[in-house]
Amino acid sequence: MPADSLETIANLSKRRGFVFPASEIYGGLRSSWDYGPLGAELLRNIRDAWWTTMVRDRDDVVGLDSSIIQSRQVWVASGHEESFTDPLVECTNCNVRSRLDKLEDPEECPSCGKRGTFTEVRDFNLLLKTFLGPVEDDAALTYLRPETAQGIFINFENVRRSSRLRLPFGIAQIGKSFRNEITPGQFVFRTREFEQMEMEFFCRPDEVEHWYQYWLDARMQWYLDLGMHPDRVRMRAHQPEELAHYAAAASDVEYLFPWGWDELEGVANRTDFDLRAHTESSGEDLRYYDQEADERFFPYVIEPAAGVTRSAFAFLIDAYQEEEVRAETRVVLKLHPKLAPIKVAVLPLSKKDDLIEVTQRVAKQLRSHWAIEVDVTQSIGRRYRRQDEIGTPYCVTIDFDTLEDQAVTVRERDTMEQDRLPIQGLVSYLIDKFGDRL
Ligand code: GAP
Repeated sequence: MPADSLETIANLSKRRGFVFPASEIYGGLRSSWDYGPLGAELLRNIRDAWWTTMVRDRDDVVGLDSSIIQSRQVWVASGHEESFTDPLVECTNCNVRSRLDKLEDPEECPSCGKRGTFTEVRDFNLLLKTFLGPVEDDAALTYLRPETAQGIFINFENVRRSSRLRLPFGIAQIGKSFRNEITPGQFVFRTREFEQMEMEFFCRPDEVEHWYQYWLDARMQWYLDLGMHPDRVRMRAHQPEELAHYAAAASDVEYLFPWGWDELEGVANRTDFDLRAHTESSGEDLRYYDQEADERFFPYVIEPAAGVTRSAFAFLIDAYQEEEVRAETRVVLKLHPKLAPIKVAVLPLSKKDDLIEVTQRVAKQLRSHWAIEVDVTQSIGRRYRRQDEIGTPYCVTIDFDTLEDQAVTVRERDTMEQDRLPIQGLVSYLIDKFGDRL
């Protein structure tokens, strides 16, 4: 069983240092969260796993790191200033605002339960405004980016030319995005500041169907390869009325969250909408020149767009398990080793100097290979419990016999099986155990 409630994950996250409420000492900010020591590692591991699959392992995708703040014209041309809206209603009884498209019952206020109290629906723009320079007037207005994608489109020609790329090819980017969400919530699922992993894959217009299907399959496989349970992840095609203003077709990778199926990642056919719009708006010709055919055209784009923070949440829920062990409940995060914040914990049985000396020697050996943690506090049972709860795949225990036989005990997280082996062979034993899962 994965975690069946959002509170279970929120509590564990706070207790163990994955996620803290932002601005907590000032009462918190509903839409923001801070990532603690383990959360920072988890996010980093998700980014690395994505970057390796989407960029490093391929010869047709390159990376980019563009600015969060761009010219306002980018957001005018992309259609965001005009059309990046959610339908908003306000309850005249309790004044709480809701997204009409997310209401279970379009007549009933989810906050006070009154019916028929909503105002007329109005389109609420999600762009987060900011002003550049000292004067807060219209000329200084721009927005924090609501998606990383536009940074890719406006750099299309820079990247193509400098990297000497030919179609089909992709440009990938990971970074923060911002949206003034009407109803942030469900822990880190929907926040006003979040992190995205997006790739724009440019291809010939007549190949767009092939690449759409290719990326649907590839993106689903990425979650499965990272251990997500096949019964809790699915692909769902959008209905025409759901499509974003730039998309001809789109599907969502959905995860079975505690409140039901919801979006994890979107894969969209953005056609030539963005390159065409920026060409028209900027006057720079962003068409692709095909030398062999001596023709210029706008490539079509398939875009897999995932969330770093949202997938971290889904991976935590999916990995969470409660098991009965010797009449006690063991909480264990069965995270894929690639995602686990700590790969190996080193636990000396006592704080005595000679054990600490061996512990440090072992830790030094392991640290050059993996993220490790040395824990010397509390009973060994409690320390195992903590490592299970944070998803550490292996614990290495150093006991008094170690001083005699130079051997340690390795405990595996999922099976709890233990092996005794010489310190000398520890690194190669663990390399073997991790196999190609790292
Ligand atoms: N460039 C296309 C685009 O941005 P999207 O479906 O709006 O598409 C892509 O966003 C992904 O970004 C989502 O599937 C989700 O994982 C993440 N995301 C979007 N809005 C979010 C929010 N408010 N909080 C957390 N993650 C969000």
